[in-house]
Parts: sequence; structure tokens; C-alpha cells
Amino acid sequence: MAESITITDNRTGESLEIPIDNGGVAASEWSKLMPGVWFYDPAFMSTAACESSITFLDGEAGILRYRGYPIEELAENSTYLEVAYLLLHGELPKPDEYEKWRNEVTMHTFIHENVRKRFLEGFHYDAHPMGMLVSAVAALSTFYLDAKEIFDPDSRAKQIIRLIAKMPTLAAAAHRFSVGMPFVYPDNSLDFAANFLSMMWKVAEPRFEPDPILAKALDTLFILHADHEQNCSTTAMRVVGSSHADPYSACAAACAALYGPRHGGANEQVIRMLTEIASIENVPAFIEGVKAGNGRLQGFGHRVYKSYDPRAAIIKRTADEVFTVTGKNPLLDIALKLEEIALSDEYFTSRKLYPNVDFYSGLIYQAMGFPLEMFPVLFAIPRTAGWLAHWQELLDQDSKIARPRQLYIGPEARTYTPLAER
Ligand code: ACO
Repeated sequence: MAESITITDNRTGESLEIPIDNGGVAASEWSKLMPGVWFYDPAFMSTAACESSITFLDGEAGILRYRGYPIEELAENSTYLEVAYLLLHGELPKPDEYEKWRNEVTMHTFIHENVRKRFLEGFHYDAHPMGMLVSAVAALSTFYLDAKEIFDPDSRAKQIIRLIAKMPTLAAAAHRFSVGMPFVYPDNSLDFAANFLSMMWKVAEPRFEPDPILAKALDTLFILHADHEQNCSTTAMRVVGSSHADPYSACAAACAALYGPRHGGANEQVIRMLTEIASIENVPAFIEGVKAGNGRLQGFGHRVYKSYDPRAAIIKRTADEVFTVTGKNPLLDIALKLEEIALSDEYFTSRKLYPNVDFYSGLIYQAMGFPLEMFPVLFAIPRTAGWLAHWQELLDQDSKIARPRQLYIGPEARTYTPLAER
């Protein structure tokens, strides 16, 4: 027999049986019994806002899968571009499909000269690169007017390729501008991550050859960040997408959500925390301070994961590989000591606080030479694939604009008093 729940409205004594489907009960059914009574759920703590077949996450068990494939297997064997294809198409590409996809993305890495010369170069000299990215992504909608044809399959596919391909170019351009370095054009003979490193770091050499270990590590980090189901920025993408805005505008909203320190900025906070702790000897006192309520252990805890974040385990291994090239990040020993003490301390274990993806990613980015301001930008590049996969899924199943209700707690009706009489 199918699982169900029965609810009774104690005001009327009426009961209603509602089926439990895929672990959820339909609020619309529930509302039939109680018209005018709303589900109060700030921050969507108990609400599933959609059905999705993209990413599976079990926070208690520490499981993350894209389209059914464990994140560990993808990080070990795949590439970011292949994972982007998987997220968007539902299946891993066959060799000819992959070659076509890789070629199309590579051929769309250039940005219109006016985006760079007129738009990006119009920013103030010390503009934050993430602010520049948010704006530049939105501005793309004014360059590609066909983007409004969101139900035309050809147009939709073209915008998806453009966005995935141009994000690294815009990201690197924002960095180069903020440090006063000239823009570097994409090198289409390089693969996705290597091309990004070239646009970031190329100086006077005829051709920039990124270290293959660093390019691979960055690609792995891109895989780990490609999607994470209904997180804050993906929710922003879905909400804006539900109004049938073009994908550049929706993506800019998602980028803006990622800009916030609670979402895309946590790894920057980890670096600031480790820098403040300054040495291993100070770790025990810092932990005691956290336990006494003086701030949080950054990079620990997660709204959904209540065991070790599976991405953190992969990142820790990636960090070791990166440090063989860059030399060890001096903050690593402090991080390891923090983890060791926290994982054996009742305060953290009883609250199920484990390292999350951000605990080690900042150490890698810093060792690779990325400034702290670029950390959310580095997150936005790969998450674009996830945002677009959700946007596409939404459009294929969407019938309604996102429009929650509220519980009004303001004043009752009152009459206007003219200014002079107040
Ligand atoms: N350090 C110390 N104590 C913590 C931490 C932490 N990092 N995180 C949670 N706690 C404690 C809280 O004080 C609370 O204790 P209490 O029950 O005695 O009051 C308990 O654990 C539960 O905390 P909540 O804030 O209710 O947990 P929530 O699920 O809302 O928060 C969050 C999750 C925001 C990630 C939190 O763990 C945190 O602030 N972590 C540090 C910042 C961070 O690393 N963010 C990145 C998240 S990953 C990402 O977004 C990509």
C-alpha cells in the first residue's frame, strides 16, 4: 500500500488523507482542507520547491551524486566539461557527442569586444571582480537578443554553450582589470581549465603552458562545484527563470546570490580565520573560544550535510597534489590541527559539525595564486552548468511563476494623517 498521511483540521473535525510521493506531501492537497492557511517555512527549511532529477544529496550519509553518478567517481575519472554535459543532458556523452560539445564550448570562449572595452573597462579601478562578473553576465543579455526565445531549442542550446564558455573569459577579464593587467584572449588550443589559467596568468610569454597538475586540480574543483541541488544561488536561478527572464538575467541573479558571504564567500572566511590564528600553538585556544560562543569555526558545519562533506574529502587529496607544485600553503598545518581537534571534541561531534567543501578549497586557491576576491568568482564558473541544468529542467516542467505567500504581521487598516498634522 502507498504511504500516506492523514491530517485533521481541529476547527472543523474534517480529515484528509494525502499520499507521500518521493518523500514529500503535496502542499496543494493539504491546502484543500485549509484554504487561507499558509505553510510557514522561512528559508525553505522544510520545503521541497520542485521535483528534480539532476543531483541527489543525502546529508546524513554524506552522499552526493550527479544524475546518479557518485561525485567521487566523477572527480576521479571525468572532466568538468563532461560533467557539465551530464548535468545538462542527463547522460554522459558518447565520444562523438563529447567532441562536438567540447568544440562548441571552445569556439564560444571569446566575448564581444564591447563587453570588454566599453563595459568592463568602465568599472572603477578597484572594482570587486565578483561585482564585475554579476554585472557582465547580466549585460550579455543585451548582446544576444535571441536569448529571449527560451522555448526555442536551438536558441536555448546556444545560450547554454555561450554562458558556460564565456564565464572563464569574463572571470579572468575581471581579475586582470582589477590588478591593472591587460586582457588575455582565450587560447582555444587549451582545454577548459588550462585556458582559464592562461587568461589569468599569461604575461609576456608567446604561449602560456599551465602546469598540468594545477590545471587538473582546478578541473577537479570545477567538477565538485558544478551543482549542489537547491542551494541559494540555484534557487535564485529557478525563481528568476520562472518569470521567463532570459538565461543571462537569471544567471546574473544566481551570481548575485553566490556573492554573499554565507554562500560563495565561506572559503575566504576560512583563510581569514587561519591567518588570524597564525600558528598551531594558538589552535586549542581558538577552539575554546569558538565553544564559548566567540564566532564560528569557518568551513565547518553545513545546513544539509550532517556527516563529512564528501567533497571535502576529495579536496583534501587534491590539496596534497597542488602543494607538490606550489609548495605547501603555510596555513595547511593550522587547518589540519583544527580539524584534528574539532573531530575529537564533543562540542563539534554532538552537533555533527564536520569540514565542508570550503575548509580546504581556499587553501588550494591561495596556493595557486588566486586573490581572496576571486574565490566566489571561481565558484561561479563551474556552478553555471548546474544553474543552467536547473533552469532548463524548470522550463521543461514549469507552469507557474514562483510566488510564495506571507503571514502578514503589520498594522490593521488605518487612515492617512496629513503631514502637517503628524
Ligand atoms: N562553528 C561552531 N559552532 C557551529 C558551527 C561552526 N562552524 N556551525 C554550527 N555551529 C553550532 C551552532 O552554534 C549551533 O549550536 P547550538 O545548538 O548550541 O546553538 C549548532 O551548531 C547548529 O547550528 P545552526 O546555525 O543551527 O546550523 P545551520 O544548519 O543553520 O548552519 C552553517 C549551517 C551556516 C553552514 C553553519 O554550520 C556555519 O555557520 N558554518 C560556518 C560557515 C561555513 O563554513 N559556511 C559554508 C557552508 S558550505 C557552502 O555554503 C558552500
